[in-house]
Amino acid sequence: MSQDIEQIRQQALSELKQAEDAESIRDLSVRYLGRKGRVTRFLRNISELPEDRRPAAGKRANEVKKELESAFNDALARLSEKQEEKGAIDVSLPGRPAPVGTLHPVTRITRMIAKIFERMGFGIAEGPEVETDYYNFEALNIPKNHPARDMQDTFYVSENVVLRTHTSPIQVRYMETHQPPVRIIAPGKVYRCDSDLTHTPMFHQVEGLLVDEKVSFGDLKGTLTALVHQIFDPQTSLRFRPSFFPFTEPSAEVDIQCVICRGAGCKVCSDTGWLEVLGCGMVHPAVFENVGYDTDRYSGFAFGMGVERIAMLKYGINDIRMFFENDIRFLRQF
Ligand code: PHE
Repeated sequence: MSQDIEQIRQQALSELKQAEDAESIRDLSVRYLGRKGRVTRFLRNISELPEDRRPAAGKRANEVKKELESAFNDALARLSEKQEEKGAIDVSLPGRPAPVGTLHPVTRITRMIAKIFERMGFGIAEGPEVETDYYNFEALNIPKNHPARDMQDTFYVSENVVLRTHTSPIQVRYMETHQPPVRIIAPGKVYRCDSDLTHTPMFHQVEGLLVDEKVSFGDLKGTLTALVHQIFDPQTSLRFRPSFFPFTEPSAEVDIQCVICRGAGCKVCSDTGWLEVLGCGMVHPAVFENVGYDTDRYSGFAFGMGVERIAMLKYGINDIRMFFENDIRFLRQF
């Protein structure tokens, strides 16, 4: 007998202590108690022992066999209990990340614009998207026969109710309820019956309004220059091109130097080197009269810009419809 039964028992128990999973415990059981296992072989070879040692050795070997059997079974039971507690989770697997959203580019640009104006002391105003004819047109000095009221551009809810075609009605609503000085921007959705590469029936604008004593066109230029330099970069040139809006006089359209070609001329700026980004002007006295402001004492400027337009230039997007297709691959880039 090469090995004493006590030695076999010790080895089996210490190997069991190292065993970490069911498979190695079952493997142990085979190696010690299986048909060719060490305990089994010891029992089989008892006849080779001197006669006087056989009975004691046989008895002890059978005890060890029973002890190991129950030790292996207990270990297996404990293991499956532990796994049940853990819900049989394999802790070595990589975690499942919860999908995290990103801000929509329109939201990002709106917030960026709001921050810039906040630093200049502007507050934020809001107004209804379903608007009356009075606020959307009449109070803004847009007469009944003005082309902006054309059935093709305006979504009519009823004869005197429309989906607002711009954020300018918020100017009127705000001035009706606040006395100067006024310094607000008004972001929001607007609606026009229009759809192609650069137009969607719903888009976003940010309106701006400043009213106080002695406000000049120079204040408007300074404010919008500061805005453009912060959205794009301080090297971007601006130009104010005379234009017309019924609710401002004088009116201007602001072009910025093409952010793609830097003024050299390209497809995006139609070879002009300039991009139109917003409309603006000095508030028309007729609008002040409609809200009861003293036109001798107060003057002011207003502007309105398309958020998608700015976002397209800032991020180099060439199809406005991308904003509203909800394609995760597009949205995740911002
Ligand atoms: N409301 C005008 C538009 O939608 C923009 C504008 C706003 C122009 C304020 C002048 C002053 O085109």
